[in-house]
Amino acid sequence: MTPQPGKRDLFTTRFGAIATTVGSAVGLGNIWRFPYEAGTNGGGAFMLCYIVFIFLLGVPVICAEFTLGRSSRSNYFGAMRHHSRSRFWPLAGYIGILASLMILSFYSVVAGWTVEYTVQSATGALDFSDTGSYHDHFDTFVTGNWRPAMWTLIFLALNFGILMRGVSKGIERFSNILMPVLFLLLIVFCINSLTMDGAREGLTFLFRPDFAALTPATMLSALGQAFFSLSLGLGCMLTYSSYFSTGTRLGRSALTTAMLDTVVALLAGVIIFPAVFTYGMSPSAGPTLVFEVLPSIFHHLPGGVVWSTFFFFLLFLASLTSTISMSEISIAFFTEQLKIRRKSAVILNTAIAAVFGTLCALSFGCLDDLRLFGMTIFNLFDYTTSNIMLPFGGMIISLFVGWRLKRSVLVEEMTCYGTTPFRVMGLLIFLLRWVCPLGIALIFLNSIGII
Ligand code: PHE
Repeated sequence: MTPQPGKRDLFTTRFGAIATTVGSAVGLGNIWRFPYEAGTNGGGAFMLCYIVFIFLLGVPVICAEFTLGRSSRSNYFGAMRHHSRSRFWPLAGYIGILASLMILSFYSVVAGWTVEYTVQSATGALDFSDTGSYHDHFDTFVTGNWRPAMWTLIFLALNFGILMRGVSKGIERFSNILMPVLFLLLIVFCINSLTMDGAREGLTFLFRPDFAALTPATMLSALGQAFFSLSLGLGCMLTYSSYFSTGTRLGRSALTTAMLDTVVALLAGVIIFPAVFTYGMSPSAGPTLVFEVLPSIFHHLPGGVVWSTFFFFLLFLASLTSTISMSEISIAFFTEQLKIRRKSAVILNTAIAAVFGTLCALSFGCLDDLRLFGMTIFNLFDYTTSNIMLPFGGMIISLFVGWRLKRSVLVEEMTCYGTTPFRVMGLLIFLLRWVCPLGIALIFLNSIGII
């Protein structure tokens, strides 16, 4: 049985609805993952693909998820069942749940790093005059096994605590204050980076596409990054939109979320790359990049310790709003489909993430030798979820809404039940029917060398 509109704990304000989807989208994906992916994929060419994918494929898929969520007032499975009798469509929901648990596992590790760095900044342990020390310092920490594992578990415990308090009360209040502050801080750091000696080189790296560097693998990474950063393809936006009020304009919310998310990623890029070139670091350091570059930036700022503590703390909070949203996917499934009590569902979600999160945390240390397909557990979780599972989920969602869903449902949702105009309906349908599924399929086929 599908819960009826009005029976759910809806977001109390429209700003709350937007702030919460932005809270889900903006997180480590923008500030940690985007710079490291852009750095390892050659900069400009990756960046160009990323922006194109966000708006051409990402925005229509957000609209599709919003439509499914609000029209059914349910989670992924409930939504698919609400609109179709076929057994096929809900299957992709299992991939979404698996992806959400895998992401929660490795994401909590990086969120744990932000907690460690908040503490270290506050205690003055993160202040070296020589840039190389930041690399060695992070390396010692991350390979040290018990501390990264401990922070992962502490972070999951905090996530657990917030989840137990329910949707609108906890998260809404939280993200409304947090996001604007983080944004302001990013702007300040951005201005600072633009005054650095390596600013021109950094910006050229990030913004000038070198088409020779545009490989199929780069395109796949950009696609994965677009979906990861928008929390898309696994039913997260779908689940959140099931709490939207009927007056929330879906098209506008989708575009606002995508734009704000992209701006934050760009700001992070503009902060990181000038510093990378100024301090003679390597842009392709991978997942550790941001944790080596940011402290070097803070070191050179007056009052660096304060900036550093505050920033890592905000990054930790931004991670929390994202992990809450990914946890809600499996929790909604456990409670609404399996009829488990919310408390048990939250415990189950946390327990699974604690086991796999610990393995991911240790994969920088004692489990470094454990490789599957040549990747550590952390990298495997990161790569397969972003580059394969999420775009695949997005493809299924766009096919479902484009071809299977009654046109009237899409029209009703996009126009807020006929109360507001939505002028690009034809374009949205075209993108959902053709561009999203074919675009994603082509990028997949291209990356495995079939075309
Ligand atoms: N979009 C989030 C970020 O950028 C990560 C995320 C992925 C959240 C998938 C929910 C679901 O940090």
